[in-house]
Amino acid sequence: MSATLDTVSLLADRINALEESSTLAMTKKARELAAQGHKVISLSVGEPDFKTPQHICEAAKKAIDDGFHGYSPVAGYPDLRKAIADKFKRDNNIDWKPENIVVSTGAKHSLANVIQVLINPGDEVIIFSPYWVSYSEMVKLAEGKAVVVDGSFENNFKVTPEQFEAAITERTKIVMYASPNNPTGSIYSEAELRAIGEVVARHENVYVLADEIYEYINFTPEGHFSIGSIPEIAERVITVNGVAKGFAMTGWRIGYIGAAKWIADGVEKLQGQVTSGTNSIAQKATVAALTGPLEPSMEMTKAYHRRRDLVVKLLKEVPHFRTNVPEGAFYAFPDISYYYGKSDGTTTIENSDDFALWLLNKAFVATVAGSGFGAPNCLRISTAASDESLVEAIQRIKEAVATLK
Ligand SMILES: Cc1ncc(COP(=O)(O)O)c(C=O)c1O
Repeated sequence: MSATLDTVSLLADRINALEESSTLAMTKKARELAAQGHKVISLSVGEPDFKTPQHICEAAKKAIDDGFHGYSPVAGYPDLRKAIADKFKRDNNIDWKPENIVVSTGAKHSLANVIQVLINPGDEVIIFSPYWVSYSEMVKLAEGKAVVVDGSFENNFKVTPEQFEAAITERTKIVMYASPNNPTGSIYSEAELRAIGEVVARHENVYVLADEIYEYINFTPEGHFSIGSIPEIAERVITVNGVAKGFAMTGWRIGYIGAAKWIADGVEKLQGQVTSGTNSIAQKATVAALTGPLEPSMEMTKAYHRRRDLVVKLLKEVPHFRTNVPEGAFYAFPDISYYYGKSDGTTTIENSDDFALWLLNKAFVATVAGSGFGAPNCLRISTAASDESLVEAIQRIKEAVATLK
């Protein structure tokens, strides 16, 4: 039985207050249209279109054969926690020991855990916007208050240190952001993060939740910089990462944090009561991912980079779309607001939700409205698809918007 008016009132308030994930909702609708026989091009999902590299799959098969079938330790197997600590040193210049690491069921789980562990009712969480859809809902679940600070289109969707400092109050507990960013593909440079770090250093009760899940998908010559490597604030930075994006392992569900031991212990305590240790086979596969060759990941990044160039070029040809140049991840995030108030004779577009739904029904191209990401003028287009589908999809978008007057 699905939820009706009566059963909704039986659900807990905290669930009724939650938004449904807009990315998952679009994916569901696209599947329904495809099942009816329409040729849907799905650019709504945030998922690599590559397979997990072979050496990682082999490690999982071996783990099954070697009998890793039982409950795993709550914070993760010792060899994995060591591999993660070594990875933090190698890639991020962050000094954590295995005792500072907790492995969870995806980076989403890691983020939700940290928020549950640090946020009391009424505590404020500053979220740099545009932001990933789940951040604000995770804060709501912990009875915290999300304070959204907007990065402007002109500043490549990034928040300035001045904007950040102006949003800090005595209730501020966490500032959180993703770099590389979902949905914009923007990347905070080392200089920008050092400036943000200086603000954090001045406010000793503020913690940084740095979501680095797209770390490897970075097209800048400078490469990735981790705010957790700044010694003055290192104890107050919780770095979240995982294998979903960089190793094409979305379904394996492994994420992790590196954090001060008291925070890691808090997350372990929570996890011990709610989910226990995460999947044993996937943990062994993750050891192979983190200690093995990175070439397969770098090959995927090359493909995303090429597609970024292709998609930006094509989107710039769509009349009245304003498109930034993403520096990483696998999304484009054009501003489509010129079309608000316009109609194809049947449907009038008022906002990004209308636009995304109209585009799906009219051109069978699934995207995601910017509204759920805190950017109501934009549309998220995933570039994790073949070149042919991207070309075809943007051609369909061009033809569809030509009917809007
Ligand atoms: C910014 C960001 N953080 C975290 C996640 C969650 O990653 P995982 O699949 O490891 O839970 C995603 C997935 O889309 C994401 O885009």
